[in-house]
Amino acid sequence: MDALDVLRRDHRAIDRLLRTLEATGQKEARKRKQLKKDLIELLSVHQDLEEQAVYPTLEQELPTTKPAVLKAREQHQVQKRLMQDLQGMQPQEEPFDPKVAVLADLVRAHFDEEDRAVLRPLARALTPDELGELGRRLEEGRRAIRSPKEYLKAD
Ligand SMILES: [Fe+2]
Repeated sequence: MDALDVLRRDHRAIDRLLRTLEATGQKEARKRKQLKKDLIELLSVHQDLEEQAVYPTLEQELPTTKPAVLKAREQHQVQKRLMQDLQGMQPQEEPFDPKVAVLADLVRAHFDEEDRAVLRPLARALTPDELGELGRRLEEGRRAIRSPKEYLKAD
C-alpha cells in the first residue's frame, strides 16, 4: 500500500468508529468504552504519523502547501485536546456524547480538507516509488508507536 492508501484507509476506519460510537446507546456501556479506546488509539497514532512523516515531507517537496499543512496541524491540536478530554472520561458522563459529536464534526471536515489540500498535492509531488516508500515508513512507524499515551501527553 502506498502512503495515500494507508492514510485514506485510516480515515475510513476512524469515520466508521465515530459512526458506530454515535449509534451505540448508553445501555451498551462496555461496547462504548471499547469504541472510545479504539477511536483514541487509531486517531492519535494516525495524527502522530502525519505530523512526523507526512507533513514534513510535503513541506519539503511542495512549499506552496505550507498554509494548508499549518492549518491541518492546528486542527490536529484541537482534536487532540478533545481526545485528552475523552480519555479521562467515562462514556456515561454527560459531556461525553457532545464531545464525541464535536470531535466527529471536526474530524470529518478535517479529512475532507486534508484530502483536497494535503493528500492530492502529495500524490502529485511524489513519484509512485516515493509514495510506496512513504507508505512503508507509515506502517513501520505505526508498529513503533503502538500506544497513544505519549502523543496525548505532549502539547
Ligand atoms: Fe490529519
